Amino acid sequence: MQASNSGSAFLDAILNGRPNTEAAWLEYFERFHADFPTANDLFTLLTTLDRQTSYGLLASAAAKTGGDAILEIACGDGNLIDDLLAACAPSARGCATDVCGAEIAIANRRLEGDPRIAFASADARALPYDDESFDLVISHQFFNFMPDLGPVLREAARVLKPSGTLLFAVNRGWKADRNSNWVRLYIAARDALREQYPQYYEHAIVEDPRIYSADGITEILTQSALFDMRTLSIDSATPRALMTPDRVAAIYNRMYVFGSLPGKDAILEAVLQRAVGLSQDGEVEIEIPFRIVGVKRPRRRPNLKIVK
Ligand SMILES: C[S@@+](CC[C@H](N)C(=O)[O-])C[C@H]1O[C@@H](n2cnc3c(N)ncnc32)[C@H](O)[C@@H]1O
Repeated sequence: MQASNSGSAFLDAILNGRPNTEAAWLEYFERFHADFPTANDLFTLLTTLDRQTSYGLLASAAAKTGGDAILEIACGDGNLIDDLLAACAPSARGCATDVCGAEIAIANRRLEGDPRIAFASADARALPYDDESFDLVISHQFFNFMPDLGPVLREAARVLKPSGTLLFAVNRGWKADRNSNWVRLYIAARDALREQYPQYYEHAIVEDPRIYSADGITEILTQSALFDMRTLSIDSATPRALMTPDRVAAIYNRMYVFGSLPGKDAILEAVLQRAVGLSQDGEVEIEIPFRIVGVKRPRRRPNLKIVK
């Protein structure tokens, strides 16, 4: 089946077996978030045993870094910045950016009037801020959407003050734990998708796969040569929630790729059936493991002068 009416170059490419382009991805984000303004709510539903969401965990880690000038990149509809400003000192100020205008508009509406937050539409690879402006650059669930993190890391390091911290949370990827319910549901959705679109291109260029392992993250950061690797910390946490199968299907209804498909009913049905199979007492436990990564910019910039 051709995904000719998907209206998105990104979907057309991945459903019909062609490589996608980054420009197509960015266009997809814009359309998707305009259609599904609360697409990121999933992460507000899952909590650890001490009732922390992944946003809350990241915000607590941020508060420990102690800086007042905070930049969030790829803020989406602003879920993290809420938690961040609650966790950090009253003197903290945040700039929150996303490439997607539809997301920034929602965040702005929701948090309008909070003088501590300034929103801006910006690509994380070209930030509209001066060098050494921030104590902390932070991001939730974004680094796993960039095929090449080099330009993102360079911009983060450029706008960080000396010894400033880069802090980010990424999920551990659907290959990490094949026994988890979340992965089983994902596989059901993917198999149904493949049945409908046999040319579905599994390896669409979406992310640097190294982002899904601690060694891979270390390698990406080491290769960038922008951070003081002695300060690297990588922590793990697994927020969970009990959900009815209908709720799980509703989440798939507004997930990237699955939520935008012209023929998504069959996929949602497959997810629902799998969720029913996994549920006990009418509810299924969903868990998404995260890594929280922190690393500091060196006190001095690396000397990049070429000596002849
Ligand atoms: C999974 S959402 C996460 C949103 C938010 N951080 C959260 O966790 O609620 C990924 C976000 O990355 C944004 N994004 C994608 N490419 C970007 C880029 N090059 N620069 C800035 N934001 C980007 C998307 O618009 C989207 O809002």
